[in-house]
Amino acid sequence: MAQSIVGYVRDAVSPAAAYKLAPRQFHPDSIFLNLNESPYPLSPKAQQVLNTFSQGNRYPEFTQGALRTAISNYIGFAPERIAVGAGLDDVFSILVTLFIEPGKDVVISDPTFGMYATFFALHGANVINVPLGPAPDFALNVDGIISAVNENTAMVIVCNPNNPTGTLFSLEDIERIVESVPCPVGIDEAYAEFSPLDHLELARTYGNAIVLRTLSKFAGLAGYRVGYGIFPEDLVPYVSAATPAFANVSGISAAIGIASLDDLDYLIANRDEQVSERERVTALLNEMPGVSAYPSATNFVLFKLPGDDATPVLKALNDRHIYVRHYPAPDLNLNDHLRVSIGLPDENTAFFNALEEILADRGTA
Ligand SMILES: Cc1ncc(COP(=O)(O)O)c(C=O)c1O
Repeated sequence: MAQSIVGYVRDAVSPAAAYKLAPRQFHPDSIFLNLNESPYPLSPKAQQVLNTFSQGNRYPEFTQGALRTAISNYIGFAPERIAVGAGLDDVFSILVTLFIEPGKDVVISDPTFGMYATFFALHGANVINVPLGPAPDFALNVDGIISAVNENTAMVIVCNPNNPTGTLFSLEDIERIVESVPCPVGIDEAYAEFSPLDHLELARTYGNAIVLRTLSKFAGLAGYRVGYGIFPEDLVPYVSAATPAFANVSGISAAIGIASLDDLDYLIANRDEQVSERERVTALLNEMPGVSAYPSATNFVLFKLPGDDATPVLKALNDRHIYVRHYPAPDLNLNDHLRVSIGLPDENTAFFNALEEILADRGTA
C-alpha cells in the first residue's frame, strides 16, 4: 500500500473503544437470550405486509409521515414532535447532530446501555459518569447527576428502566433531574412497555425532556430497525433539519412498523406473557443456591452467580448453544453477573435447566 489516510481519521475515533458484541452462532438449537430481543414472530398484520410489499424500487416517504402518525396514535403526541430513525441507536445520531460539539460533556450513569459512552465519545464528547449505587439497588445518584451538570454539559442521558440492571428508578427521581438542569435530558425508555411507568407526562410538561423509544423490544422489530424520539415542541424545526433524508428507515420497515402498531392486542398479549415469564425466571434464579436475581421492569433479568467470574458459566451455556450477556469490564463491577433476556417459556426453562446443571457440575449449587 503506497499511501495511508489513517492520519486523517478524527482523534475521537478509537478502534480500541469500539462497541463490541460477542458473536453468536445460528444453530438449529440456538437459544438467543443475549440481546433483549422479542422471541415472538411478526404480528399477523405485519406478516401480511411482509408477504405483499412491492414498493422496494421506490424511496420511502421523505418525512416518514405515515410511520410518525402511527406512532402518534400509539403514544398520543402530535406527529410533528416525533422523529424516527433506523432503530433508537440511529435516533442518537439526531441527538448528536443537535447537541454535541466536540469537548462538550454528556452525563450518564454506569452500568447502563454501553452505546451511550461509545457513541458520544466517537463524536468528541467527554462522557461524565455518575455511577449507580451498588447492587442490589443500583440507586440513581440524582444529586450527583444534577451537580455534574454545568455550562459545558450538552445533555444528560438516563435509562429508565435501566439496561443492563433492569432497575426501575422512580418518576420523582427522573423529574427532579429534568426540572433541576437547564440542558436536554434524554430519557431512554426502550423497555417502557415492560415497566409499570413511563415518562410521557414529563415530555408533556418540561421543555428539556426528550423521551427515546424503540419498536425493537415490545413490538419485536429489532431486525427491521425502527426507533423514535419525542422532542419538545420548539425544537421541531431543528429536529427536522437534523434528521437524515427518509430518516434512514426503509420502506418495508416503515410499513411493518405501521402494521405492527395496528396489531396492538397481539403485542400486548406477548408482552403480558413475557412479564409473567420474567417473574417466573427471577423467582427460579433466586431459589438457586448462591444466585441472586434483581427485580426487573424490562424483558431481561440481571443475576449474580457464585464465585467472582461468570466467564466459565457463560462458556458452558454457549457450548449448549444458549447465549446470554456478560459484562467483564472491570469498572462495571458485574464480572460475576449475567444478563438473560426473557424468551419463550420453553427457552426460559431450557436456560434455567442448563444453568442448574452447569452450577451443579461446578460444585456451586
Ligand atoms: C436501553 C437501550 N436503548 C436503546 C437500544 C437500541 O435499540 P434499537 O434496537 O432501537 O437501536 C437498546 C437495545 O438493546 C437498549 O437496551
